[in-house]
Amino acid sequence: MADVAVLDVLLHGEPIGTLTNVGGDRTIFAFNDAYIDNPDRPTLGLGFKDEFGTLLTDFRPYQKRVMPFFSNLLPEGHLRSYLAQKAKINEEREFYLLWALGHDLPGAITIRPADGETWPPDLDDGGDDDRNDNYGHRENALRFSLAGVQLKFSAVQEASGGLTIPASGVGGSWIVKLPSREYAGVPENEFSMMRLADLIGMNVPTIDLVDIASIGNIPDGVDKIGEKAFVIKRFDRLDDGTSVHIEDFAQIYGVYAEDKYKNASMRNIAQVLAAEGNDADIIEFIRRLTFNALIGNGDMHLKNWSLIYPDRRNVSLAPAYDFVSTISYIPGDQHALNISRSKAFADFNEDELSHVAAKAALPEKFVLDTARETVALFHQHWRAEKSNLPMSEDMRAAIEAHLKTVPIA
Ligand SMILES: Nc1ncnc2c1ncn2[C@@H]1O[C@H](COP(=O)(O)OP(=O)(O)O)[C@@H](O)[C@H]1O
Ligand SMILES: [Mg+2]
Repeated sequence: MADVAVLDVLLHGEPIGTLTNVGGDRTIFAFNDAYIDNPDRPTLGLGFKDEFGTLLTDFRPYQKRVMPFFSNLLPEGHLRSYLAQKAKINEEREFYLLWALGHDLPGAITIRPADGETWPPDLDDGGDDDRNDNYGHRENALRFSLAGVQLKFSAVQEASGGLTIPASGVGGSWIVKLPSREYAGVPENEFSMMRLADLIGMNVPTIDLVDIASIGNIPDGVDKIGEKAFVIKRFDRLDDGTSVHIEDFAQIYGVYAEDKYKNASMRNIAQVLAAEGNDADIIEFIRRLTFNALIGNGDMHLKNWSLIYPDRRNVSLAPAYDFVSTISYIPGDQHALNISRSKAFADFNEDELSHVAAKAALPEKFVLDTARETVALFHQHWRAEKSNLPMSEDMRAAIEAHLKTVPIA
């Protein structure tokens, strides 16, 4: 088996670089000259620019893992194990995972082998490299990748309105998130929180809560737990099949997924939005920050914030996703990242927001007015909807109790 293999990296369907396995499980990324020389090149990520906006082109090799930007395109946890097992690939060998799953990745990136081999070599098969057998037992493998931990699939909407998961997992414009093994009622929780965010006026994609039994073609080997799945329209896929580019803040900061609770604060995200986004992005960011403090969501880590590139070059804050009230599962939970100086929900007050505003050079009044307005809208919609949303009694009570402890509420 040849040791060197090259994967082409495409952005909006055009090759822009290569990821090369130089042997010994070391990989290195390089941009193509044509991409480097193109003054109108579409943006791959903010982390590929230096402080003057110049494209970075010199990358070091990485051992076993691929560089964080590409590693972050792959799932974590149970979803990664599941997909890797189906594809018969060691889940730690990210180069081969990208090879197998690169057809359908987050955003407008696709990755494919340069020499046309559709499947990576069967590395974990005790040296038995019989190609035919190899293709045979991978026939039913799924070939998509969605980031995150929760078991999820992309799905297509049938003419009848129902959702079906394509056999290869590729091509859907909806994401179906299945119930969690660890925590009860996560789909209902996420649906309720996302619905509230929508009512308050945040940028929320179309969502639904559906009977799992109504979803066609759920791949086998998936735990049969719970009754409902949370469904959300993908904002990185348009109805005509084209992809819109996105990246998450772990990619922007060049940190691996396991460091998503470290290395940066909410204030740092605000600083990026202040430099690269517009006023609407700042308002949206402050609303989401405030809202997630109110519902007690301790999971707004670097991978739960993304940027979107609607015109392929300039960024805006991507729509909201993954809003879950975690305090009902983890009493005493705190923010996933420091707001500015503190992670504690009990420290989420106007002084902390003023500190964010000062450090990110945002007008203080604008930030505080936005937060106050969000609190007022929250109370209005929470009062009206708390009995109608499909939350458990425990969850409702946990949020009510939590609200008494958040100063800004
Ligand atoms: N509506 C959406 N459109 C496009 N991408 C999404 C959408 N929702 C989530 N994602 C992407 O999928 C990843 C996983 O989704 P998320 O809801 O965060 O799941 P998890 O609960 O597993 O973290 C996100 O990090 C984001 O990259
Ligand atoms: Mg997430």
